[in-house]
Formats: sequence, structure tokens, C-alpha cells
Amino acid sequence: MSDKNKIEMAEKFVKDKMARYDSGHDWWHITRVRNLSAYINEKENLEDPLLVDLAALFHDFADSKFESGNQAESVEQLSMFLDDNGLGTFSSRIINIVQEVSFSSRKKEPGVKNDLLRIVQDADRLDAIGAIGVARAFNYGGYRNNIIYSPVEGENRYSTINHFYEKLLLLRAMMNTETARILARERHEFLELFLKQFYLEWNCGSF
Ligand code: ADP
Ligand code: NI
Repeated sequence: MSDKNKIEMAEKFVKDKMARYDSGHDWWHITRVRNLSAYINEKENLEDPLLVDLAALFHDFADSKFESGNQAESVEQLSMFLDDNGLGTFSSRIINIVQEVSFSSRKKEPGVKNDLLRIVQDADRLDAIGAIGVARAFNYGGYRNNIIYSPVEGENRYSTINHFYEKLLLLRAMMNTETARILARERHEFLELFLKQFYLEWNCGSF
């Protein structure tokens, strides 16, 4: 099987699984993370481009929010798929990414990260900030039926604006690669601009 065929098989396999995910984890998030990962890898020249593409493609394959309790099963499915489709040599590295990016990284930051993880994690985090990040956050908040914001502190804890402070504004400082740090700068500034305008409009006339 050619590399192109292997990628096509893998795309179909992921797409079928993604069809059950919410739109914050949809196919186009995967596509953007693949593109960002390829870009970072090209600039930094760190890993085999085929491996980077596959790792990005599979990075959310066993996401805990959507696969509660079934992470081990997802990893097993993935392992079988890779073996059956001539990708067994990449198996352990891809599974490592799935485990670190999809769920383990939520609980802890691994001490030493390999280059593949550094790339895919940066790409995933870049897609959570900037204009796309704002869109994804409100999309997710709507899906969860969360309020957008409340000036009442207790209520605001559950708002999408609060998610900016809990996560989105922290991501710029967490980038692993120089290339991602450069991309993160503009996206972070956009988050700040968005918040500034949001509060300006929220407070309009309420003096
Ligand atoms: P990742 O793709 O990095 O694994 P998550 O699974 O944590 O990201 O979240 C998917 C998307 O939903 C991200 O854009 C994230 O910012 C957003 N999101 C997650 N939790 C919340 C929340 N409580 N409120 C608003 N957006 C959220
Ligand atoms: Ni992701």
C-alpha cells in the first residue's frame, strides 16, 4: 500500500469515529491540527512528515470527554488498525500521542516530551486560541448549554468567558516550539482584543 493509500484509509477510520463526536472535535478541527502540525514540523524539521500527519490525524481518537470509560478500547482499536494497514512501525509512537494529547495531558504535564508530542500538542493548543478558539469555545459552551457570561461571580464560574481565564489565556505560555510561540502571539492578542470589546459592549450605557 502506498503512503497516500494508508493516509486515506486512516482518514476514513477517523472520520467514522468522529461522526459520533460533538462539533468542537469535528473533522475540521482534526484537519486544522494536521495542517498546523505539518507547518510546525516543516519549520522546525523534527520528525518524519508521514508520522506527524498520522499522529495529528489520530490525536483526539480516545478523548476522555467523549469516550468516557472506553479509552483503553479506543487505543486497542487503533493499535489493530495500524497493524492491519501497514502502519505497525508507527504504532507505539502514535498511541503515545493519543494517550498524552487526548487525555493524560489534562491531568499532568509529562516531564520530558518527545518532538512528536511537542508538535501535535502545540497544534492542538493553537487551534484553541485566536478567532477559531473563540468560535470553538462558544460552540462548546452552547452545546453544554452554558451561559456566555455573567457579571455575578458565582454564575460566571460556569460561563464560556470564564473558560478564557481558566484555559485559553494560559495556552500561549505553554507552547513547546518556537514556531508555535510565534503563531500563538497573534492568536493570544486576538483573545485579549475580543475580551476587551466584549466587556465594552456588555457595559455600554451601564454607568
Ligand atoms: P482539545 O482539542 O485541546 O483536546 P478540549 O477537548 O479541552 O480541547 O476542548 C475542545 C474545545 O472546546 C476547545 O476549543 C476548548 O477550548 C473548548 N472547551 C473546552 N471546555 C470548555 C468550556 N468549559 N467552555 C467553553 N469551551 C470549552
Ligand atoms: Ni484536539
